[in-house]
Amino acid sequence: MPSLYGLLTFLSATELLLAITTFCLGFWVVRATRTNVPKGLKTPPGPWGWPLIGHILTLGKNPHLSLATLSKQYGDVLQIRIGSTPVVVLSGLDTIRQALVRQGDDFKGRPDLYSFNLIINGQSMTFNPDSGPVWAARRRLAQNALKSFSIASDPDSSSSCYLEEHVSKEAEYLIIKFQKLMAEVGHFDPYRYLVVSVANVICAMCFGRRYDHDNQELLSIVNLSNEFGEVTASGFPADFIPVLRYLPNSSLDVFKDLNKKVYSFMQKLIKEHYRTFEKVEAVEEQVVVGSRLGLCLTLCSFASQGHIRDITDSLIEHCQDKKLDENASVQLSEDKVVSVVFDLFGAGFDTVTTAISWSLMYLVTNPRVQRKIQEELDTVIGRNRRPRLSDRPQLPYLEAFILETFRHSSFIPFTIPHSTTRDTNLCGFYIPKGRCVFVSQWHINHDQELWGDPNNFRPERFLTSSGTVDKVLSEKVILFGLGKRKCVGETIGRWEVFLFLAMLLQQIEFSVSPGEKVDMTPIYGLTLKHARCEHFQVQMRSS
Ligand code: HEM
Ligand SMILES: *[C@@H]1O[C@H](CO)[C@@H](O)[C@H](O)[C@H]1NC(C)=O
Ligand SMILES: *[C@@H]1O[C@H](CO)[C@@H](O)[C@H](O)[C@H]1NC(C)=O
Ligand SMILES: *[C@@H]1O[C@H](CO)[C@@H](O)[C@H](O)[C@H]1NC(C)=O
Repeated sequence: MPSLYGLLTFLSATELLLAITTFCLGFWVVRATRTNVPKGLKTPPGPWGWPLIGHILTLGKNPHLSLATLSKQYGDVLQIRIGSTPVVVLSGLDTIRQALVRQGDDFKGRPDLYSFNLIINGQSMTFNPDSGPVWAARRRLAQNALKSFSIASDPDSSSSCYLEEHVSKEAEYLIIKFQKLMAEVGHFDPYRYLVVSVANVICAMCFGRRYDHDNQELLSIVNLSNEFGEVTASGFPADFIPVLRYLPNSSLDVFKDLNKKVYSFMQKLIKEHYRTFEKVEAVEEQVVVGSRLGLCLTLCSFASQGHIRDITDSLIEHCQDKKLDENASVQLSEDKVVSVVFDLFGAGFDTVTTAISWSLMYLVTNPRVQRKIQEELDTVIGRNRRPRLSDRPQLPYLEAFILETFRHSSFIPFTIPHSTTRDTNLCGFYIPKGRCVFVSQWHINHDQELWGDPNNFRPERFLTSSGTVDKVLSEKVILFGLGKRKCVGETIGRWEVFLFLAMLLQQIEFSVSPGEKVDMTPIYGLTLKHARCEHFQVQMRSS
């Protein structure tokens, strides 16, 4: 066959090798993405994708928007490919509820992503493929520790709980700081101060301490643009296309560096806790000895309850008391227990700061809304005492404003990626075990059918004709996930946003420098950010 011979001489050996490799790779990609679908079920539909890169270009800069558009065409359960990895994308409240709540066990997994391994040396409870008994035990631990140091009441304070106490202290500092900035500069970027205040609240609960607004060490790990969110967002390309991990100076390098800094920052605090924890134990023993001698019974009972200063202490105590093995079903290493505090700290400042920061953006762009919130605060609380958690039910307009901020910004557009823990059938679609699943909260919160005019910012939509919050509608705003992986800090997050806003707005009015425009274009990531705005101004409210 002369023609074949001609072809072979024409191609060099390397070219031939390249052709064969390409062919095999293409074949492998097709094979890898094809699954044996059981009879009666369908594979989720989706658009045609490029070989090797899949739908990366379709996702673009704003995956939450492009996937919402795709869901119009393909429905609430659709499938795309990122690199060669198939990903199921869920939209729509009913479908997402079906998956995460009714079939919660099937969808509670997390994919084994490259970026997850870079967080807390791969020890994270949140960003970790484990969804078995060890994860469940750690999650319970996080919930209990959090409860004791946030919504429980502090016996030594007049505040209704630790959280209220911490927030009112930080809000007070913040108001003074803002006034000082106004006097000195005349305008400022509120995010950079807000984030320290919010970090201080979670620091107080986790580590029993706070930091100054100019502390460079804290600033270097909390004053972020979106270095963390960019990499942990749904659809970060390097998670799916390994070659991208080796680009010099990519966002991955910044991310690794940041994680190292956070890790050593917290490691230092934990070491300090171990050191002083033992000391307190020793003191307690002395007190016990003392009490045996009949010297001080009351001091003894105080010391044995009061030496757990914060969440870190309570986790250390858990390890030392072996309280964890009561059920003996899982054994957690000490590392796995104490590192839970990393998850809480990490999840506790960026989310809440982003929420309050978006709120401020909506306030300055909707001065009428800000005035209504302040009128409500004046009527219900007045200026002579500070707002408390117990005021929340009497402040429906503020509540409606917070709900509308959550809905309209949808600043966590997708939950953290999920994965299936077994082969499953969702609404007639076959989804095999281990499939990566993106859950679009943004889509629910902007669903035309649910909201009518999703793009308008209108707190009033949550108020009934009698002026109370429409409970049924408010539960359709989904920002904390649903089901087994639902946010552990939801109550704290909601309370904290409420307290900060009530305390700030009672005292000060926000605006931007005349002639300056604010840019509210969301920047994609695990949390959506807005561009920093240097032109905020505050004015103390005249009484
Ligand atoms: C407004 C504030 C907050 C919002 C909107 C928010 C939202 C979320 C979302 C969407 C998830 C992922 C759910 C999923 O993967 O399905 C999550 C997980 C989580 N959140 Fe929050 N969160 C907030 C505040 C907090 C706070 C204050 C804490 C702790 C102090 C916290 C701790 C966690 C933890 C530990 C997880 C991981 C749960 C797991 O993987 O099992 N969050 N949050
Ligand atoms: C905080 O971050 C912003 C945005 O990255 C930056 O412009 C600003 O200088 C930072 N401020 C401090 C005090 O680190
Ligand atoms: C990477 O970026 C940092 C600052 O962004 C710079 O200092 C450094 O030189 C860069 N390194 C390389 C290899 O380009
Ligand atoms: C032991 O397990 C049962 C059932 O899983 C649970 O109800 C109980 O609270 C657990 N006990 C402890 C101390 O965790």
